[in-house]
Amino acid sequence: MAATCVIGLQWGDEAKGKIVDFLTSQNDVVVRYQGGANAGHTVVFDGKKYKLSLIPSGVFRPEVKSVIASGVVIDPESILGEIDRLRESGVEIEKNLFISERAHVIFPWHKEEDRLMNEVGGRSEAIGTTLRGIGPCYRDKVGRSTAIRMGDLFRADFPEKVRAICALKNRSLPGLAHSEEARAAIQPLDAEKIIADYQGYAARLRPFVGDVVNYLLDVVDANKRILLEGAQGSLLDVDYGTFPYVTSSNSSGVGVTAGSGIPATYFKRIVGVIKAYSTRVGGGPFPTELKDEIGQRIRDNGNEYGTVTRRPRRCGWFDAVAVRYTSRLGGATELSVMLLDVLSGFDTINICVAYELDGRRIEHFPADVDDLARVKPIYEMLPGWSEDITGVKNYEDLPENARKYLDRLSTVVGKPIKFVSVGPSRDQTIVR
Ligand code: GDP
Ligand code: IMO
Ligand code: MG
Repeated sequence: MAATCVIGLQWGDEAKGKIVDFLTSQNDVVVRYQGGANAGHTVVFDGKKYKLSLIPSGVFRPEVKSVIASGVVIDPESILGEIDRLRESGVEIEKNLFISERAHVIFPWHKEEDRLMNEVGGRSEAIGTTLRGIGPCYRDKVGRSTAIRMGDLFRADFPEKVRAICALKNRSLPGLAHSEEARAAIQPLDAEKIIADYQGYAARLRPFVGDVVNYLLDVVDANKRILLEGAQGSLLDVDYGTFPYVTSSNSSGVGVTAGSGIPATYFKRIVGVIKAYSTRVGGGPFPTELKDEIGQRIRDNGNEYGTVTRRPRRCGWFDAVAVRYTSRLGGATELSVMLLDVLSGFDTINICVAYELDGRRIEHFPADVDDLARVKPIYEMLPGWSEDITGVKNYEDLPENARKYLDRLSTVVGKPIKFVSVGPSRDQTIVR
């Protein structure tokens, strides 16, 4: 037995939540290992829609353990809200949730810093973060001296730590403001209120927090089946994505071992999740973006509005240059193509197979974001299909042009397609 990883190969929102839920029944443990409440994963079954942020998308199978591993950054208020919302809709998570004491904690100062530092020095375009405090929390983790982990919430010196950090942040926050007006609007941090609030959260979270690393290593030794749920997408990876327009964790395949603590030799299956087209939320280059009525039609058909921030997602054609790069980087063993139904009704569908950069054809994904901003996509045009495919159960029953599109997509990316999704619901999934 071994572990299966589900990794987004684009800019996030590839419908990872749906495929994780689909694969959960074949596993004993489901693990979130990076990112935080910037993620918004959607699971739909029996006519009900659930939105998850920090809780793994495997939570709907009571026999499966839900683990939040050490690489995740946790907003305690946010996770408690999620637990409450799940309970209200009849999903009991309490018996099955396990949170790493090593995971770092998001505090109000992180959200304030996120708000103040969204702009990138010297660039006109902002990152457009989710404002959940993700970047600042990871920055404090790497910086060490002003970081607090889940395990620290229960220590006697926790109040002292918060007081010291608040004193420091109250001095540094005004320096981050871009204008006098913004500086004047900054509310000083109230250390005693933060201590009281977080001790309240800690009391509720205590039963779930423990040594997840040791637990997962025991699971590995017992040869059980583990499913790892990536958040964000590979092109948002802090080291390998479209830096600096990225998130602050390793959201590509390279992050699984670091975030979970599970040895790399245990990963046997890497499912690369892709939309049948491309989307991106926030700033940064997007070579195949369609700022016209075709882009709007994709947005309308796919209901492409952010799960977390409700921002309209930028939409465009499938970018095989980018996905060839991320699927190789993550070592994808197979692809899961999502939202194929959104493309029904288009006369022609384009696949970007190469870029033109300064008059030259290139087939690799540029490392430099300014080069990426200058590339022009080179498209292959394929005939579309008009049939409604949302009820199709078998690959062979898809319209011929839909199959041809998928086959071409698989060829240009260089990976086999294992799953095709034709609607949001669990049962609208074709297994090849
Ligand atoms: P994630 O962040 O990768 O889990 O993806 P999101 O949940 O943010 O976004 C995916 C959206 O597409 C959700 O609203 C899903 O319910 C929806 N969805 C998933 N699969 C399909 C599909 O095959 N067709 C359509 N039309 N919608 C889908
Ligand atoms: P899921 O898991 C899509 C984007 C933000 C912004 C950049 C940095 O649902 O696929 P951050 O708040 O992380 O510092 O923002 O990353 N972003 C996502 N885009 N899906 C996500 O998660 C995202 N999480 C962050 O829009 O551009
Ligand atoms: Mg999402």
